[in-house]
Amino acid sequence: MAPDRDEVISREAARRKLFSPARLGGIELRNRIIKTATYEGMCPGGMPSDALIRHHRDLAAGGVGMTTVAYCAVSPNGRTFEDQMYMREEIVPKLRELVAEVHANGAAVSIQLGHCGYFSRNTKLPGRRSLGPSFRLNEYGLMAGVPFARAMTEADMARVIEEFATAAAMARRAGFDAVELHLGHGYLLSQFLCPAVNRRRDAWGGSLDNRMRLPMAVVRRVRERVGAGFPIVAKINLRDGFRGGLELEESVQVAQRLEAAGIDAIVMSGGFTSRTPFYLFRGGRPLKEMIEVERNPMQKLSLRLFGSRIIKEYPFREMFFLDDAREVRRAVKVALVLLGGLLSLDNLETAMREGFDFVAMGRALIADPDLVRRMRAGEAARSRCISCNKCVAEMDRHGVRCVL
Ligand SMILES: Cc1cc2nc3c(=O)[nH]c(=O)nc-3n(C[C@H](O)[C@H](O)[C@H](O)COP(=O)(O)O)c2cc1C
Repeated sequence: MAPDRDEVISREAARRKLFSPARLGGIELRNRIIKTATYEGMCPGGMPSDALIRHHRDLAAGGVGMTTVAYCAVSPNGRTFEDQMYMREEIVPKLRELVAEVHANGAAVSIQLGHCGYFSRNTKLPGRRSLGPSFRLNEYGLMAGVPFARAMTEADMARVIEEFATAAAMARRAGFDAVELHLGHGYLLSQFLCPAVNRRRDAWGGSLDNRMRLPMAVVRRVRERVGAGFPIVAKINLRDGFRGGLELEESVQVAQRLEAAGIDAIVMSGGFTSRTPFYLFRGGRPLKEMIEVERNPMQKLSLRLFGSRIIKEYPFREMFFLDDAREVRRAVKVALVLLGGLLSLDNLETAMREGFDFVAMGRALIADPDLVRRMRAGEAARSRCISCNKCVAEMDRHGVRCVL
């Protein structure tokens, strides 16, 4: 299928486009290659560490147009684990240092803002209850001692909207060039979008308009607080990856509504961390390593006993979201970021030829932080990443890294 938005461009033109500066909202990136958010596990006690700064400095020095600091919760209760970073005044000086290091190496830097919603293992939650669209069993936190989620009230929603906006304003003040709102992977805003998880019968559930109400209110309020021109990116699911979850037909409409709300770019992903965690990565399922790094004894036992049954495997293929992403490309004009199994220069050029505005890579850049610089210099055509996904276990051991 050929893209119908633009004429198909030649390989040479695609390469020029890839490595040329491009606008994202009110800023310009030096090229169209973005390091996507991959949870670093480098914030002991929720404080950004020097290791986190070095990690993003190396990615910037390696040539990306923009790097993304992964999952920063908008509030203490938006954390999945206690050791996760959440946005607050206390971490702003360290974030400023991080931003300065990235800028000194020529890249822009974004931060991903999220709220985990019901899937939390954070035992410090009031009443040990996580928050979700509807009352439910928290299969993700069950073994860790957070067995149930309660349905959010209107007051909870008003608070969460403000938390997103305040966190975004703080990120801007810390010097970030953009914020990425997490609407995917089964986190809170994705839970609202998901028909199987959002069982509400009020104005926040049911039709897509209703399920979009909370994400849209967040986008609008964030815009009010960060002002025009400051780039707001949304990461969305193309599909949740299970029956009753969000499907492509609706995610195309989600993209259209986000475009109408003035989002600057959309990163297209998929999968639901609590139910289909490997839908987002594809490739190996490093159960042995995941069991090794699991600290909670009950969780460890459950992984050992049921891991291979509860964590479904998805075979890797290059550009695994391309077919679905094309449907979004046809439906919107807003800048789109193609993600998922991009490993080679050839993949990146294909994305440009297909009419995507940016490309994002996760594992390829964990394996080779300097891949972009080497591709540009003609020294590399492909990442050495083999999609073994051992980096997923590593983030809970010493911080995310490639084991190769
Ligand atoms: C170790 C690891 C950690 C991740 N953490 C996050 C995260 O914090 N937030 C997020 O949106 N996606 C996260 N992801 C998913 C990636 O952003 C991306 O969607 C996925 O890896 C597919 O891209 P890739 O094939 O280029 O790696 C993570 C992926 C990996 C491998």
